[in-house]
Amino acid sequence: MTPFNFSSRTDWDLLPNELTMRVTEHRRRGRRLLDLTESNPTRCELSYPGGKILGALLQPENLSYEPTPPGLLQAREAVAGYYESTAGHRIDPKQILLTASTSEAYSFLFRLLAEPGDQILVPRPSYPLLDFLARLNDVDLKAYTLEYRQGWHVDLNSVEHGLTPRTRALLVVNPNNPTGSGIRAQEREALTTFCRDHQIALISDEVFLDFEFEDSPSSGSPHTELPGTSSRPSPERTRLRSLVGGTEALTFCLNGISKMLGLPQMKLAWIASSGPPAALTAALERLEVIADTYLSVGTPVQHALPTLLHEVRDTMCQQILTRVRSNLRALDERVAQTAGLCERLMADGGWSAVLAIPRTKTEDAWVFEWLDRDEVLVHPGYFFDFESEGHIVLSLIPPEAVFREGIDLIFSRIEKVLK
Ligand SMILES: Cc1ncc(COP(=O)(O)O)c(C=O)c1O
Repeated sequence: MTPFNFSSRTDWDLLPNELTMRVTEHRRRGRRLLDLTESNPTRCELSYPGGKILGALLQPENLSYEPTPPGLLQAREAVAGYYESTAGHRIDPKQILLTASTSEAYSFLFRLLAEPGDQILVPRPSYPLLDFLARLNDVDLKAYTLEYRQGWHVDLNSVEHGLTPRTRALLVVNPNNPTGSGIRAQEREALTTFCRDHQIALISDEVFLDFEFEDSPSSGSPHTELPGTSSRPSPERTRLRSLVGGTEALTFCLNGISKMLGLPQMKLAWIASSGPPAALTAALERLEVIADTYLSVGTPVQHALPTLLHEVRDTMCQQILTRVRSNLRALDERVAQTAGLCERLMADGGWSAVLAIPRTKTEDAWVFEWLDRDEVLVHPGYFFDFESEGHIVLSLIPPEAVFREGIDLIFSRIEKVLK
């Protein structure tokens, strides 16, 4: 019999990679695992205010269904409030459209902006889900380079070179996963001008924006303050800054509660759109029809959103931020003891750290050795398309004790092998 015909866009190589196979076998044998790739916040021993979160879902309105394609107004107003209190930017709630996840937001935007075969400029290194999202939406990704020169920088030449008549959008991940690099003021200006001049959209994925590594010089990170409790932050105080509200280019900022509140299971994210009025109006109208086609965001989480943003965000953001900073400090202290064998690459924020490791063997060889001999799991850099070998990526959200023990084993192994 001839095989059944499936679409070529789903023609994936579904065989697990070698690392996945080894981890499965490791677990099957019942060995313990210090998982420094863990990125699911609900598995990281964070203290969720369960009563508040579940209470927010217990609303009688949840028993009726009023389909609202862009999302319930009170939920969109709460998102607008978030931008006002954190970025000091007032955005009309009508410019906010709710989606079930940031991944879905990407799909909506690719559908909005691109014909099959059109191109989206994306940073490299970055996170692998983008490849899947592009393929499922029939668009091609064209990489521009993030260069590491005492910190990550957008290689603006590579952006220019990546442009073709089929380019429809430029994507920034701000801060990027896994490099943790935010978009600097000059880069923001250059990229906005580029998008405006070439009539392409600017998409800014800001799911990690609230997790800045270093405290701002003055009163702490403005991104962790509750609405109404802070003086308006001056944008210069923080290196991580939302692109929300940009009017030069058609701009779409993506965020959601999956990372911001550590609640990926709630399935709520959004697109905050802005730009030149005519293009913005058309974009909002079309996005609304896309959203109407799926109506994918559940009613209970929309009703809960104001409470989640006003009463849960501060405590969750603060906890995750404390975790991330504490693990990063532990990593830096351990790096400092290795006498130059390793380097933690500079970054602005996010949930991961990149470690440059000795290139005496391949990334895989190191990663397999840590797994097999030390029971520690990390990701090799090539999973994220680093330009050269010699990197690993560590999640910064595992519990401190797990993280510290894990990195200690990693560095002890490096020292043993190289000394
Ligand atoms: C940079 C970045 N954007 C978006 C997502 C997807 O987030 P969501 O859970 O909202 O789909 C991820 C997931 O890890 C991510 O790393």
